[in-house]
Amino acid sequence: MKIVLGSTAPDAAVQVLAVLVTEDDLAQDPMVNALDGALDGTLRAAIKDEDYVAKRDTVLTVPTFGKIPARKVVLVGLGKREKVGLPEVRIAAVRVARVANAEKAVTVAIALHGSGNSAAIRAAVEGIILGAYRFTRYMTGDRKPPRSIERVLIGWVGLGDGDRPTADQKRALVRGEATAAGVNLARDLVNEPPNELTPAKLAELAVSATKPHGITAKVLDREKIQAAGMRLLDAVGRGSRNEPRFIHLTYKPERARKPLQRVVLVGKGLTFDSGGLCIKPAAGMGEMKSDMAGAALAVGAMAAIGVLKPQVEVHAIIAAAENMPDGDAYRPGDIFTSLDGKTVEIINTDAEGRLVLADALTYARKLHPDVLIDHATLTGACLVALGPFTAGFYCNDDALTAQYLAASKGAGEAMWHMPLLDELRDSLKSDVADLKHTGDRYGGSITAALFLREFVGDRRWIHVDIAGPAFVDRVTPLSGKGGTGFGVMSFLNFLDHLEAPSGTVGTR
Ligand code: BES
Ligand code: MN
Ligand code: ZN
Repeated sequence: MKIVLGSTAPDAAVQVLAVLVTEDDLAQDPMVNALDGALDGTLRAAIKDEDYVAKRDTVLTVPTFGKIPARKVVLVGLGKREKVGLPEVRIAAVRVARVANAEKAVTVAIALHGSGNSAAIRAAVEGIILGAYRFTRYMTGDRKPPRSIERVLIGWVGLGDGDRPTADQKRALVRGEATAAGVNLARDLVNEPPNELTPAKLAELAVSATKPHGITAKVLDREKIQAAGMRLLDAVGRGSRNEPRFIHLTYKPERARKPLQRVVLVGKGLTFDSGGLCIKPAAGMGEMKSDMAGAALAVGAMAAIGVLKPQVEVHAIIAAAENMPDGDAYRPGDIFTSLDGKTVEIINTDAEGRLVLADALTYARKLHPDVLIDHATLTGACLVALGPFTAGFYCNDDALTAQYLAASKGAGEAMWHMPLLDELRDSLKSDVADLKHTGDRYGGSITAALFLREFVGDRRWIHVDIAGPAFVDRVTPLSGKGGTGFGVMSFLNFLDHLEAPSGTVGTR
């Protein structure tokens, strides 16, 4: 998809011409007026007929009958002007892409609302790319959509400096493209079927997607995982022929302004989670191909970071394995020594995520990060607590909590602050080892987080349980069905803040 910035006008040579408009501006919006003139008053007539008032996330599609080059004019409501932020612009642009896809349009223009700025351009770019996303790799013949959006014009009447985009606006375009491409890469990885996307394949793709952007990689195979002492990761992967991988990606800015913040991003990478010997019920098991969404997020974010080149050092650590029942699979009752040294009694082989993360977090904390963040499709309990669209957010630092939740808000990704309740820590006490890895059924998302906390040492740490929003069974404002790429945008937004001079500097 090729996106260009420029002035939008009624005679734009595109098939679908969209206008983003607020409730307050609808009556006098210059673009709507210009279009109405070009369409001999039929646009205002349609607005009146349909009682269209540009409420948030509403669409009015009007045919043009050859009066202008565009086949359809599409008004997308932004709601009340004072409530319009970047998430609203992004979601409106997603709408435009969906209409264009439904219309089988190849060329699209988006006129942004009057007071558009560079940030709005970035959000619109993100929205159109996210909205155009479809996972069609495994479709053939008629099942494969014949056309998709190829060219997009984004702007407003009189954009830039004498109709040419400013340097700032061009930068917004590039940043929006990199961000959305990162999200869509994460979606692709999640949507890949588990017979194709094995831990080894995930490692290959993680390297090939980030190497062109100067990101370096280290990959450990099963032998090296064992030799390194990651016995928990090894145990989880033991039941599968598709052997585990440990992946470490590194981004360092070329001309670094010291002192640099160091962020380590950890992702759960279960390419399939059958539950192992404590096997899951058949219904819904196929969804567990998405159990590597934390890893996908890390890869998508690193690919974007390679383009965005923030003044932050970022590492991505992925623990990839497949959880299967087998003669050699790990069992309830087993005890393993973690990389950290603590011994762990296995209770339920379906609680595998926290095990692979324990070793990954131990490795990660030894990199002495200022901020340590893990993302994982960790617990069904989190879905029970918050529903399918909101992630559970845990953090051991109040300032960091505020910073990260602000970043997620700007990204339009819902995260809810959950408590690390010390009183539940007792449920992880084992009679025979240092720890058991599951607690009581009640508070299951919290006890999983408490287990992870045992492995982060004194680091400032965030744990995001993305079991719900990483993979959805219905269309949401930002995503279609399947993998959503949830969390990539929040993380990238957070890096923007961290990079800024006001970002709090931790002490190693
Ligand atoms: N990957 C699952 C969690 C999950 C469930 C993600 C539903 C997305 C949707 C995780 O490995 C798991 O099975 N957790 C168990 C833990 C339990 C055995 C303590 C769960 O949540 O039931
Ligand atoms: Mn599981
Ligand atoms: Zn799992």
